[in-house]
Amino acid sequence: MSFGLARGKTLDITGVGIDSADLPTTDVAPLIDPREWFGERASLPLEIEIGSGKGTFLVQQAPQQPDVNFLGIEWAGEFFRYAADRVRRNGVPNVRLLRADAVELIRHRCPDAVCTVIHLYFPDPWPKKRHHKRRSIQDQSLRDFHRILRSDGELRIVTDHDDYWQWMLEHVARAEAIFARGRFAPPGAGNPEESELVGTNFERKYRREGRPFNAMTLRKR
Ligand SMILES: C[S@@+](CC[C@H](N)C(=O)[O-])C[C@H]1O[C@@H](n2cnc3c(N)ncnc32)[C@H](O)[C@@H]1O
Repeated sequence: MSFGLARGKTLDITGVGIDSADLPTTDVAPLIDPREWFGERASLPLEIEIGSGKGTFLVQQAPQQPDVNFLGIEWAGEFFRYAADRVRRNGVPNVRLLRADAVELIRHRCPDAVCTVIHLYFPDPWPKKRHHKRRSIQDQSLRDFHRILRSDGELRIVTDHDDYWQWMLEHVARAEAIFARGRFAPPGAGNPEESELVGTNFERKYRREGRPFNAMTLRKR
């Protein structure tokens, strides 16, 4: 499938893009530590974005937080390559892109307490009931996100989709013992009425269409 991204162009993901197909198999190394992919920067705090799309959030946010590493996880190969090439072209040293199913990778291969923030912006809503099991927010995934966050870490969520928002609220209510819900107010976020909230591609598109968003921050208890 083509998404009309950089068709015909040679994309170079050297030094930025990692394909989960190239990771050691689970028999050899069940857990992988993504912090090691940042070389001499490995000891800096790590933030993970699930579903990075074209990498707009990463390219914009990472230069503003040079003392933080960002890992974008994207399962669509074409978006993964586009975003990794874009990060390389922009010369952003604190970003890596991983091609993987983020939910599966976090569940089965991520050690405890590896990151300080998980960003989940405009996740696919999977509107049909029979597809709800594909949504990134599930009871199990909330427990997994909680496990890989450091103490006081947070999960930041934005969606334009009302039904998915209701689904999220129901799941978050059941996760009350492990997450405290708060207003979406990450450092640097503007007033959502006036400026960009997180500056992703989908935010820009939906803002142009006048669609309202819902957002929340879940702090690890
Ligand atoms: C609606 S797009 C939003 C992209 C970006 N966050 C934005 O706001 O512009 C959702 C993205 O998440 C990716 N995605 C969905 N589920 C995923 C998963 N489990 N692991 C990794 N990527 C995923 C999709 O391929 C797609 O690029």
